[in-house]
Amino acid sequence: MALRKILTYPEPVLRQKAKKITVFDEELKQLAADLGQTMYDAPGVGLAANQIGVLKQIIVVDVSKSEEDKKFITLINPVISEGEGSVTGEEGCLSVIEYEAKVKRFQKIHVTAQDFDGEPITFDAEDRFARIIQHEVDHLHGKLFIDHLSALKRGLYKKKLKKILKNRL
Ligand code: NI
Repeated sequence: MALRKILTYPEPVLRQKAKKITVFDEELKQLAADLGQTMYDAPGVGLAANQIGVLKQIIVVDVSKSEEDKKFITLINPVISEGEGSVTGEEGCLSVIEYEAKVKRFQKIHVTAQDFDGEPITFDAEDRFARIIQHEVDHLHGKLFIDHLSALKRGLYKKKLKKILKNRL
């Protein structure tokens, strides 16, 4: 396992679409392990490959029951095939520094993905789990949670970020 660097907005790779994974090998398992380690180190509850500069459709999502548990699932080529209900909740992102905002998401989703052998997986997810998956799948499409906000709010964040980055120089 290796810790990877998490790229942050406005890094261009975060705006690119990840490619579908067709090779299911050891390297893929290694990538998932790196994503998991990097996510917990941050710490975060989800991470998509784009965020470490890898344009492949793979995400990891924390499913720990407790702090020490550190259990995550890996979804390869995940697709949200159905969604119902809508809930607004606070979100942040390891790639969007110093910002949180309320985002509207489906309350319940149906997910299809593949496992490490390329076998299909399907399941339903609700609430927090569903929110994280929707957020991470967005990343694979080059989308960030701030894209769900009004242009005004997004503009304010861009201004704030400019100041933060300037002060870091
Ligand atoms: Ni994110």
